[in-house]
Amino acid sequence: MKKMDKTGTPASNSSDEIAKRVDALLNQMSLAEKVGQLAQVGGADWNQGPKPEEIIRERGVGSVLWLNDTKRFNALQKIAMEESPSKIPVLFALDVIHGYKTVFPVPLAMASSWDPSVAEQAQTIAAKESRAAGLHWTFGPMLDIARDARWGRIVEGAGEDPYLGSAMAAAQVRGFQGADLSDPERVLACAKHFAGYGAADGGRDYDPVYLPETQLRNVYFPPFQAAIKAGVSTFMSAYMDLNNVPANGNRWLLHDILREEWGFDGFVISDAFGVLNLVTQGHAKDKSDAAFRSLNAGLNMDMASNSYLDSLEALVNNNSISIEQIDEMVKPILTIKMKMGLFENPYVDETLLEKVIALPEHKQAARRAAQRSMVLLRNEGSLLPLSKELKNVAVIGPLADSMESTEGSWMVFGHKPDAVTVLQGIRNKLSDAKITYAPGPDIRRDIPHPFGEFDATAKKPRQTPEDADAAFQAAVETAQNADLIIAVMGESQDMAGEFASRASLDLPGRQEELLKAVSALGKPIVLVLLNGRPLSINWAAEHVPAILEAWEPGSEGGNAVADILFGDVNPGGKLPVCFPRNGNHAPLYYSRVLTHLPEDRPNYLSRYWDGPTTPLYPFGFGLSYTTFSITNLKLSSGQVKVGQSVTVNVDVTNTGKVAGDEVVQLYIHQKWGSDSRPMRELKGFERITLQPNETKKVTFQLGPDELGYWSTNADKWIQDAAPFDIWVGADSLATLHADLEVFG
Ligand code: GLC
Repeated sequence: MKKMDKTGTPASNSSDEIAKRVDALLNQMSLAEKVGQLAQVGGADWNQGPKPEEIIRERGVGSVLWLNDTKRFNALQKIAMEESPSKIPVLFALDVIHGYKTVFPVPLAMASSWDPSVAEQAQTIAAKESRAAGLHWTFGPMLDIARDARWGRIVEGAGEDPYLGSAMAAAQVRGFQGADLSDPERVLACAKHFAGYGAADGGRDYDPVYLPETQLRNVYFPPFQAAIKAGVSTFMSAYMDLNNVPANGNRWLLHDILREEWGFDGFVISDAFGVLNLVTQGHAKDKSDAAFRSLNAGLNMDMASNSYLDSLEALVNNNSISIEQIDEMVKPILTIKMKMGLFENPYVDETLLEKVIALPEHKQAARRAAQRSMVLLRNEGSLLPLSKELKNVAVIGPLADSMESTEGSWMVFGHKPDAVTVLQGIRNKLSDAKITYAPGPDIRRDIPHPFGEFDATAKKPRQTPEDADAAFQAAVETAQNADLIIAVMGESQDMAGEFASRASLDLPGRQEELLKAVSALGKPIVLVLLNGRPLSINWAAEHVPAILEAWEPGSEGGNAVADILFGDVNPGGKLPVCFPRNGNHAPLYYSRVLTHLPEDRPNYLSRYWDGPTTPLYPFGFGLSYTTFSITNLKLSSGQVKVGQSVTVNVDVTNTGKVAGDEVVQLYIHQKWGSDSRPMRELKGFERITLQPNETKKVTFQLGPDELGYWSTNADKWIQDAAPFDIWVGADSLATLHADLEVFG
């Protein structure tokens, strides 16, 4: 029976005991072994250099990635535990961003639920399935704030706002890691990409980022700080140059901010080949210089470039780097492996996975997450919900029966798409109706995805213009013969994600042309969007009566779409990012300073003369099948002292005929101060369910955490004594207002 310490933790796992075990282990390890722990080596067939088996046998290794093979995990672990010099277990890592086998909505969709418990449950299940497969570590959650919808990786994050992004960050870390790293059904989380990656010039993935410290601290850092507060074990540094210093070798980020100021005690891994990329970026002279700079910046582990493996021993031997620095980088890696209990339990039960992924509650959770993530953008004349008595429905569009686009970006290696598509979901719902289908013309990237070799869709031959025309006609005829049309359009899954930025936000291909053609038939029509970013659906927003934003909804996406279209579920999602009218308007976001000529002034309603620059749909927007009133805004006091808190209350009533969810949002605006402050900032939200005629009181707290900020002028965190506008409502245009005076 293991000895227990006073906290009931197995004595070998108490922090003090672990620190002692780490020191003892370090003392017996050779320099070569220590450097091995600072390496994450590629496990894919296409990886260059020595195979993991060889490196592990010779010196052990910190981690292996890009491998998804339970048997091989155990085989590699056996080499580590029986043949390597110090018998240190390997961490197996993979990108499990929104599900391992059970696929959840993409993170941007889960953020649209404005319900952190949805994200927490999703990542709990993702962790359970991943761990059953033999994985220990996921490269998630992705925490990059994105205010430029042209940037493809907007799909992987929680949108444009640091307050919502922080809530989703903490929820995902809790989901992945649970409360105790020794839990055999959890995996290590990884806060990525630190920091500022979403602000790439022009939304062009990998392009340089220029952000002043004020923006970093007030907008881009908060989700990472929330992840640390939630106990995240690892960070991943970003690819790009941040103010001309690549994040993978940026000591200000990885040491001064992350360790010194925030006290992060886990470890940091580079992005893929990020250490060696310092040479490509014209920052480091050569591989050895790159390894030197990254290690000195505070980067613990080199992902896949083998620069540490090839360079660090020589750098120690020529006294460029001290053995103490190496030990400092190795300690958190060994500490986390011990906290996980991997030294005692290094192997995975190879019979476990098939049982875990078959659990019915996993698919049920995926369906509920998808239902809560969808956003009703338009419902003119209450066309929705549709009647289940419909007998003849045409489903039109290239994504209607696409499993890949229903599951979305970032599937794990080897995953075979098996989602319930929208077409299938509608057929499941209306089992005795005539449901016809026509895809219309294909949609394809103009420039193939560089990882296209892994993607069946990308490998399909391109449609000829003649075939596209024929498909177009067939779709119009199919629509002609139906009583109601459901158009399923948007982007294919390779059009958002990594290396998937685009200049335009229009519907790709001939989708809008087809939408216009079938709309002209004069039949009731619904548009369901499957997409990984905001789209400039300006024509549809005027002419299609009902529009449902379904994002990339995962394994049960089609069923969830049908649940909403036919009224079994009342949609309650809200946009975590605004929808620009044009890709050229990006970056576009609600939380910005007033300027000397605010856009609400008559005659100055747009910054461009060729059209309005207000968003098509604002941040926080989403409709319901019922209606709500938000009234009786009351502050516990109209004045509050700097450093003190005030309570904000409102009443929310369901004034419609069906039960539904409202997301009540609290925004502040500091009217003047050390710096100009954004005209609106989200500082509270709560999603609540109300029965018809039911009223609930919703309460928020406003204190120094919400009212303070990093000031350019003061060059530090401050809270001004100043007057504030307080708004509470159902989106970022909320009008219910109160005044708050913060005094010195
Ligand atoms: C990729 C991504 C990163 C991912 C890593 C490992 O290039 O930038 O998000 O976790 O490589 O696959």
